[in-house]
Amino acid sequence: MSEMKLPKIGLGTWMLKPYEARYSTIQAIKLGYRFVDTAQAYRNEKGVGDGLQEVFEKGIAKREEVIVSTKVSPLSIRPKAAVKSTYKSLKRLQLDYVDIMYIHFPAFVLGYSHKKTLGALGELVDEGKIRHIGVSNFTPQLIKDALEVIDKPIFANQIEHHPYLQQPEVLKFHKENNIFQVSYSPLGRGKALKDSVINEIARKNKFSAAQVCLAWVIDKGAYPVPKATSLDHLKDNFAALDLQLSDEDIQKIDAIDKHERYVHPPVVSPKEWKKKNNL
Ligand SMILES: NC(=O)c1ccc[n+]([C@@H]2O[C@H](COP(=O)([O-])OP(=O)(O)OC[C@H]3O[C@@H](n4cnc5c(N)ncnc54)[C@H](OP(=O)(O)O)[C@@H]3O)[C@@H](O)[C@H]2O)c1
Repeated sequence: MSEMKLPKIGLGTWMLKPYEARYSTIQAIKLGYRFVDTAQAYRNEKGVGDGLQEVFEKGIAKREEVIVSTKVSPLSIRPKAAVKSTYKSLKRLQLDYVDIMYIHFPAFVLGYSHKKTLGALGELVDEGKIRHIGVSNFTPQLIKDALEVIDKPIFANQIEHHPYLQQPEVLKFHKENNIFQVSYSPLGRGKALKDSVINEIARKNKFSAAQVCLAWVIDKGAYPVPKATSLDHLKDNFAALDLQLSDEDIQKIDAIDKHERYVHPPVVSPKEWKKKNNL
């Protein structure tokens, strides 16, 4: 596995407006977060970048201490566009390099190619613009196919993962292949926070339901990136690092899996997605 270690928790920024992304980035780093996740498609890279510049200028953290990840949009998935859009991301983020550049979705219908698109990102690694190549919404089979035709490692796969969508076999695959699993929507987009088992465990441990979900993800050896807009939520989520769940609590949460997905990546329904986006 790469020498770069991921912090146990990161900040998600999907749906944050640029000014909110700036605020959450600054507050999160002040609280101790050292991992911020954005994407070209979130249209808030400039906000994240403004926040990062402020914390670097004020000496709250150094650039090399913060892992910054973004994602190539499906609309820029062809090799040349992937390179061009990476340069645009760097400009908006006001950075010389990003730590992880993910492929947001394996959008084959829009021209994604393991060999060519990941190959283009590989050249950006050689140029020092990207430290690590990541993928997102990839199945184990897609990762196996990709690894056969590229000459750089895949650092991480970012997938939906929370108590209602546990996918233990996928996690096992990532571990066996030394690929970090970054867990998106780790609170089940808020839905897992209402669960009675989660709340019972939260009350017993004197932690919040969000902290129980995050502690469960971390206990599994994955890296959650919860999104939070308010300072209270940012604090609450970061303090999940203080919660060590008992084996019994972990087993109780293992038993509430609903195999329920709350994010529907276009790879699952490319036709509908193309139609919606007038492509
Ligand atoms: N790669 C992909 O395709 C993909 C897809 C989805 C998500 N992601 C990444 O994963 C991140 C997280 O996923 P997500 O945004 O879908 O969902 P999430 O983190 O599971 O849930 C976010 C929701 O939970 C609320 N929340 C956060 N902390 C809370 C707390 N301590 N107590 C109560 N409520 C809390 C948030 O409210 P407030 O905003 O009001 O704080 C928001 O409504 C994204 O932001 C993005 O970076 C990636």
